[in-house]
Amino acid sequence: MRVAIIGQGYVGLTIAVGAAGAGHMVVGFDVNPALVDQLNTGKSHIEGITDTELGSFIEAGSYNASADASALDGSEVIVIAVPTPLDAQRNPDLSFVHAVAALIQNNVKSPALIVNESTSYPGTLRNEIAARITGVDHLYASSPERVDPGNTQWGTKNTPLLVGGLTPAAVTKAKEFYGSFSDSIIEVSTPEVAEAAKLFENTFRQVNIALVNEFVQIADALGISGREVIDAAATKPYGFMPFSPGPGVGGHCIPVDPSYLAHVANQVGVPATFIKRANEVNLAMPGYVVKRIVAGAGGSIMGKRIAVVGVSYKSNVADTRETPAAAVIDQLREQGAIVTWHDNLVGSWRGETSSPIAGSDIAVVVTKHHGVDVAAITGCGYVFDCTGSIAGVDGI
Ligand SMILES: NC(=O)c1ccc[n+]([C@@H]2O[C@H](COP(=O)([O-])OP(=O)(O)OC[C@H]3O[C@@H](n4cnc5c(N)ncnc54)[C@H](O)[C@@H]3O)[C@@H](O)[C@H]2O)c1
Repeated sequence: MRVAIIGQGYVGLTIAVGAAGAGHMVVGFDVNPALVDQLNTGKSHIEGITDTELGSFIEAGSYNASADASALDGSEVIVIAVPTPLDAQRNPDLSFVHAVAALIQNNVKSPALIVNESTSYPGTLRNEIAARITGVDHLYASSPERVDPGNTQWGTKNTPLLVGGLTPAAVTKAKEFYGSFSDSIIEVSTPEVAEAAKLFENTFRQVNIALVNEFVQIADALGISGREVIDAAATKPYGFMPFSPGPGVGGHCIPVDPSYLAHVANQVGVPATFIKRANEVNLAMPGYVVKRIVAGAGGSIMGKRIAVVGVSYKSNVADTRETPAAAVIDQLREQGAIVTWHDNLVGSWRGETSSPIAGSDIAVVVTKHHGVDVAAITGCGYVFDCTGSIAGVDGI
């Protein structure tokens, strides 16, 4: 099939490579011309896709990136994978999705299957995309993306996909397309069910992470190890699922998607109390971490040299969006510490560059990537580990 993927970020490039690998002819469309140029030279910008893999599809003619909207027309399948952030008031910002609807309206004159993979609230495909595209008889489906960047066990092929269509023909076409590179497609009755399932999946994580973050504070105050309790509870073979505590939540999904659900909940008069409380608990974690560091360092960090290790939001990815490392660093600085950070994947961030760990008075491990120098961390006078992966040091 001739396929166009709109948005060549984490999600779009992953689908593009999956589809190219299945033998489709893929155009990766993006509004960022620098990214398009980079991709066309065979240089991937995401962890799960190697330059060799991308280069081989470019060489075979099955993938090319483009910033030219005329490349979209004539596609059998058009997949939308653009950002769905929150605005300044923490309400859904669908401006990217609306821009794509306008792009399709203005440039796609032959009928296509249009699939939205961007995460959004129920009704987005129907009301915010399909309703804005007129004059051509397209098919519309929703298949919310479930990619977990950096996850080597679950990828495009073996992670089951949900598909909900506006019409049976849309579902049939979407199953044909996704079935060519994904092992398991699960049909749901409407696009709204698929859209809501994605929000519920991430809200489930957000609420459980908040619960475990609150629990470790209780355990610490009781003088027991929260992580040991979680491991002990996880020996129960049913009815319990372990989540890991941490310095907060980051990335494009867990801090954002539940607020999309809360937004529609409010519109229909249901107060999304769990989501609100979970947000509060997770957003307060950097403050808790800093409080523990100050206490662990003897009551003051004024003038202390602190290395914050790992500033991306999770291990082995370079993504710093919404990372709790930002609040941890800011709050350590507010307490008078001289803070540098070290991240072998991120390199530069917020106008600062990665610094060595060695020579610091305190090391604070926010995220631990493979290959980080643990000896340099434990060589610092005091270590606070938010990842629970360094033996014999303080942490959560
Ligand atoms: N990153 C993840 O782990 C993940 C997982 C599941 C779902 N999602 C969802 O997938 C969607 C995309 O996320 P992402 O992480 O790939 O974002 P991203 O920021 O990595 O990539 C989005 C890309 O879209 C491009 N873009 C913006 N407006 C455009 C337009 N009008 N036309 C064409 N391209 C445009 C941007 O230039 C960027 O390259 C979001 O809804 C997100 O919530 C993300």
